[in-house]
Amino acid sequence: MNTPWKPAEQPDKFSFDAASEAEIAKVLVKYPEARKASAVMPMLYIAQRQMGRETGSAWVPVAAMDEIARRLDMAPIRVYEVASFYTMFNTRPIGRYHLQVCTTTSCWLRGSDDVVHACKKAAGVGGFGETSEDGLFTLTQVECLGACANAPILQVDDDFYEDMDGPRTEALIAALRAGERPPAGPTVNRCGSAPEGGRKTLLVTPEAASENQ
Ligand code: FES
Repeated sequence: MNTPWKPAEQPDKFSFDAASEAEIAKVLVKYPEARKASAVMPMLYIAQRQMGRETGSAWVPVAAMDEIARRLDMAPIRVYEVASFYTMFNTRPIGRYHLQVCTTTSCWLRGSDDVVHACKKAAGVGGFGETSEDGLFTLTQVECLGACANAPILQVDDDFYEDMDGPRTEALIAALRAGERPPAGPTVNRCGSAPEGGRKTLLVTPEAASENQ
């Protein structure tokens, strides 16, 4: 039962399921017993993924943070501090797909405004921090994702879609809506962050160059 001070979306309790326990065992073994609080971020990810599996909304309720604090012998406030500091952790329910648009300098210069506009239009979301009426999409503005060479970046859940523009963003959202999951990575003709269309330098090996001399 929800107490008056508790938002309706917050569950009363949370316990890790068998799949999460298997992941937790692999995480905790990396830390000495006296330093297991260092596992707080992987534990938050595990809880968030479990909520995604169970409810279709990947977020971390307070009850899960309390359980993490108990498992790691930490004060609950220290877990709340970590979860509320990093944008990777959602402390409120979100849509099935989390659209995270980088609008920092490189992405902005390369057209992140078009990506934002396309997200709003195709997903039916009014603005940042909002979820579409159908509950499918939540739109979030994020700072540099560390993939500036492939700007602009649209992160969907844990996947980076790179070199985005308006039409490709709309096509991606249409695919997600249809239950498809297009491959992540560059959306133009390039491998990783290599130049579009292929390599432009070091086209000749040193051996071939010396043979031609
Ligand atoms: S500015 Fe967008 S990834 Fe760095």
